Formats: sequence, C-alpha cells, structure tokens
Amino acid sequence: MKNKIAICPGSFDPITNGHVDIIERASKIFDKIFIAVLENPDKESFFSLTERLRLVKSSVSHLKNIEVESFHGLLVEYARRVSAKAIIRGLRAVSDFEYEFQMALTNRKMDAELETIFFMTDHKYSYLSSSYVKQIAVLGGDIKDFVPPAVLKKLKGGKKQ
Ligand code: PNS
Repeated sequence: MKNKIAICPGSFDPITNGHVDIIERASKIFDKIFIAVLENPDKESFFSLTERLRLVKSSVSHLKNIEVESFHGLLVEYARRVSAKAIIRGLRAVSDFEYEFQMALTNRKMDAELETIFFMTDHKYSYLSSSYVKQIAVLGGDIKDFVPPAVLKKLKGGKKQ
C-alpha cells in the first residue's frame, strides 16, 4: 500500500492546543505528516521561526509519524517536494470558511492532485486562536488551558522573546 503523506501548514505563532488536537487526530489517518511552519520574511511574527519550530517540535514529540520543517514559497511546491497528497487544515467557526475556501481552491487550481482536507475543531477549542493567546499572555492573563506546556513556559511573564 502506498504511504499516505500529508502536510499540515501554518504560521504556528504559537502552536495552540487546538493545533495539537488536529495534528493528533490527523496522525491516526495518515502514515506521515509534515508540519510545515511558514517562514515569511514579509510578515512579522511574534516568535522567530527558530522558536516556532522548537515549540511545535516539543508539542508533538509524543507522536511518532510527524516531522516538523519550515517552508517558504508556494505551499504546493513544498507539498510536491515531500510527496504529500493532502493539505490538512482545521476549521473552527463559519468565519474561517471564506479564507480556507479561497486558499483551498487556489491551491487546487495550482495542483489538482493535491486535496485540502478539513478537520472540524473540537468544541473545546472552537474559540481558540494564536492571536488571542498572545494577547492574553501579554496582558498577564492565564493561558494554561490554551497552549502546550512548552508554549506556556515561553509565554509566562507575557514578554516577547
Ligand atoms: O496559520 P496560517 O497563517 O493561517 O497559515 C497560512 C498558510 C501558511 C497555510 C498560507 O499562508 C500559505 O500556504 N502560505 C504559503 C504561500 C502560498 O502557497 N500561497 C498561495 C496559497 S493561498
């Protein structure tokens, strides 16, 4: 049987429990998943690429069939490089739909062989976003229910690295 390889792309700035939940569920379906952390010099991120990679790696270290890499340029080209047949994305509320729909159709136009597969968020994480996590942390709120331990440790104190 052919290996089922997927990519799970994102900014992961930082990774949240919502991301981890989707990666865990997807890891049961695919033989191998590459988590593709976006390296985008045009978009300022809160955490550096090195730090985002470290936090993702540490948060999924309990999963055996996951590799974490950075990518730049077109996602479809990265997918071809790692022989992935699917892009995994999480869907929270209806408000995610338009952005995700546009991205999925654009990627499909560029590579008709590459499917985007959506995982519905667990209701526990339906409201969760990396942006709010950062905001709450910076303003001194408690984010322990929202992020993996490594991210919690990094964000404690609410300071930018
Ligand atoms: O976590 P995010 O920020 O919603 O992830 C967005 C991401 C990284 C999936 C998207 O920006 C992306 O794929 N960027 C790579 C550039 C690209 O391929 N663009 C064309 C498809 S829309």
